[in-house]
Amino acid sequence: MSMKAPRGTVDILPKDAKKWQYVENEIKRICNHYCYEEIRTPIFEHTELFQRGVGDTTDIVQKEMYTFEDRGGRSLTLRPEGTASVVRAFVQNKLHGAVNQPVKMYYFGPMFRYERPQQGRMRQLNQFGVEVLGSSDPAVDAEVIDLAMTCYQKLGLSSLKLFINSLGDQESRQDYRNALVEHFTPHQSELCSDCQSRLAQNPLRILDCKTDRDHPAMKTAPAILDYLNDESKEYFEKVKEYLEAMGIDYEVDQNLVRGLDYYNHTAFEIMSEAEGFGAITTLAGGGRYNGLVEELGGPDTPGIGFAMGIERLLMALEVENIELPVNEALDCFVIAQGEMAQKEGVKVVHQLRQQNVQVDKDYQQRKMKGQFKAADRLKAKYTIVLGESELEKQVANVKAMDTGDQVEVPLDKIVDYVAEKVQGGSQS
Ligand code: HAM
Repeated sequence: MSMKAPRGTVDILPKDAKKWQYVENEIKRICNHYCYEEIRTPIFEHTELFQRGVGDTTDIVQKEMYTFEDRGGRSLTLRPEGTASVVRAFVQNKLHGAVNQPVKMYYFGPMFRYERPQQGRMRQLNQFGVEVLGSSDPAVDAEVIDLAMTCYQKLGLSSLKLFINSLGDQESRQDYRNALVEHFTPHQSELCSDCQSRLAQNPLRILDCKTDRDHPAMKTAPAILDYLNDESKEYFEKVKEYLEAMGIDYEVDQNLVRGLDYYNHTAFEIMSEAEGFGAITTLAGGGRYNGLVEELGGPDTPGIGFAMGIERLLMALEVENIELPVNEALDCFVIAQGEMAQKEGVKVVHQLRQQNVQVDKDYQQRKMKGQFKAADRLKAKYTIVLGESELEKQVANVKAMDTGDQVEVPLDKIVDYVAEKVQGGSQS
């Protein structure tokens, strides 16, 4: 029987996991500079959380959730995204009462969506996301966008494009919704079946439908920015001003409505413009969701955030030919020949590791030559050779692999000597 990972999932093998670790560490470092703290929430939640949080009419809730009943008869769902869970945790743990406001959080982790897999579209996908709860200052919108852009730029990406839009406040959004229903109703029968039901349930989503993209009614559809009330307009102006102050380029895209129900005011997406990136170019998406905390049982609290797919980030790095500085060299490899030397080798390896030296040895019973080859393959900076003649003299031979220089070091000094060499950074 051959067992394979389920469709839409992948194994992240050790050579790739190094890149994941690098990217995650860099992003965590950046989050620290922006004063965001990590939050970890469960991977499954009550199904109702996503129905209410993400929205009953969204594709995610209607078609893409991994929902199951547990042995106690509860309906649970593997999280399709992180925002609803973070807001649930915020409400449940009364973080609205925390001294430091707004509460700025970030998270990493797998999300699950039953989508049609293709390059850049997984059923188990990994996101890095942030959520800021408790401030309706447009400077926070700009900060969140800046943080997303900074993560990409610090990792070396340059072919990026930021699109922003405003969906306005509740009132503006309702006015716009009515205008869209009026506009599309005469064309209802010409639209795809999804859009026919969107017309009643979620008319904004018609604007980002891939099937009906070229329908003439799309081009004449009313534009959201014409329906923003003064307050919403002013808010959007401020966000743009702050972005400009930071030197962040953007383009306003009035059809950017996002696929989740909770958004109002600022919505944004970051796309890769790198050649050869493939059909799916959205790297990250987010926006403001001022009604969500209340919807999930908390006090009226504004919120904003975004999430980026780590798989798509790594794809973009690859397409832009960016080599991550993942350390592939090994500090030291211990080469031992003979039974006594093996025992000494086990001891030296252990002691070096206690001194925080990265070190390995042969476990394949290779001959001396094979062990040297293994040390080369692993790009060891130093080898310690323990042969019978060395043991007799109570010494070991330390070789700097880049220069070929060798020194004999007394066995009782070997650990300190190599630790000093490696940690001192010099190989001579
Ligand atoms: P989203 O647009 O659904 O937003 O997902 C954000 C990002 O996750 C996407 O831009 C993409 O990079 C990645 N992603 C989504 N689905 C897949 C998939 N099937 N395969 C690979 N990558 C995928 C959210 O999830 C919101 N919670 C973002 C947010 C946070 N809004 C406010 N706060």
